[in-house]
Amino acid sequence: MRPEPANAGSIARAARILREGGIVSFPTETVYGLGACAFDARAVARVFEAKERPAFDPLIVHIARREDLAVLVQNVPDLAWKLIDNFWPGPLTLVLPRRDTVPGIVTAGLPTVGVRMPAHPVAHALILETGSPVAAPSANPFGYLSPTTADHVSAQLGDRVDMILDGGPSAVGVESSILKIEDGAPVLLRPGGMPLEEIERAAGIPVRDESGVHALPEAPGQMESHYSPHTPVRIIKSATECGETSSRCGLLAFRDPGDAGRFARVEVLSPTGDLCEAAARLFSALHELDRAGLDEICAQEVPEEGLGRAIMNRLRRASFR
Ligand code: TXA
Ligand code: MG
Repeated sequence: MRPEPANAGSIARAARILREGGIVSFPTETVYGLGACAFDARAVARVFEAKERPAFDPLIVHIARREDLAVLVQNVPDLAWKLIDNFWPGPLTLVLPRRDTVPGIVTAGLPTVGVRMPAHPVAHALILETGSPVAAPSANPFGYLSPTTADHVSAQLGDRVDMILDGGPSAVGVESSILKIEDGAPVLLRPGGMPLEEIERAAGIPVRDESGVHALPEAPGQMESHYSPHTPVRIIKSATECGETSSRCGLLAFRDPGDAGRFARVEVLSPTGDLCEAAARLFSALHELDRAGLDEICAQEVPEEGLGRAIMNRLRRASFR
């Protein structure tokens, strides 16, 4: 399946495919999604099938306008409105009490639904033109690296999808932050593209971080092994810890590593050590390293602040065997 450049014509065709029960991969600012009409349970089932995703892992529903929240969600707590005012459209998913009309396959039978409003203009136009909220996980086979380009989607899911819209590389590069609200208090289920510090500043109260807890079924995306390349990943503090062996070792460096001649392949996330740039390059760099025929990928730690939390979360799960 060749990606098609996103323009008014291709977006209109993609929307028609969605309305007729098809599945379409589309760009968002975080990663590429694989979408189906959220109220079409059969189309949503095709998304699970294409990804080989277990049915207990719920999908995020994407909307283009605030009024669309009302068709998905029973009530929106004040704190959620505050966060919506601050961060939508953008990389923040809110887990809210769902309406009974939302198909159980979307929410994996949970009483809640994850909703977000993506900031990418192509995603926005596609959802509007479809005339329905769009349920979409990341467009990768279950457990594998998320796609940040249309070519990643094409290489990973190829003919399993009806269309791939190419809107360029995803600017944020890691999935949305996922937040639920429990008794009025914010709880982080997945660190992502919206830094925890910013969420806390807007909320005005501390956020409880449950992103490291592996309790099922509420937090299926929090399985220990996830976001994994085929090549084994080892997390290291500095590039000097690795590479004295005869194996073909790749280096995922945070900033410019200086002399890294002993590595068979080196990818630098951000030469200047900028965490936003590092997040934006993370999955592309891992895709490159995974294609390089290496025995091992040594991934250098990044500071756990801002988008660094999401990066370390993905690296830990990628390294879990
Ligand atoms: O940035 C993103 O969030 C991307 C783009 C495409 O929007 N989507 C994404 O979807 O990362 P996915 O399926 O790879 O991850 C969705 C995760 C699930 O694994 C689950 O952990 C969480 O969202 N989730 C969805 N609905 C939930 C719910 N009702 N309660 C708790 N967690 C939920
Ligand atoms: Mg995913």
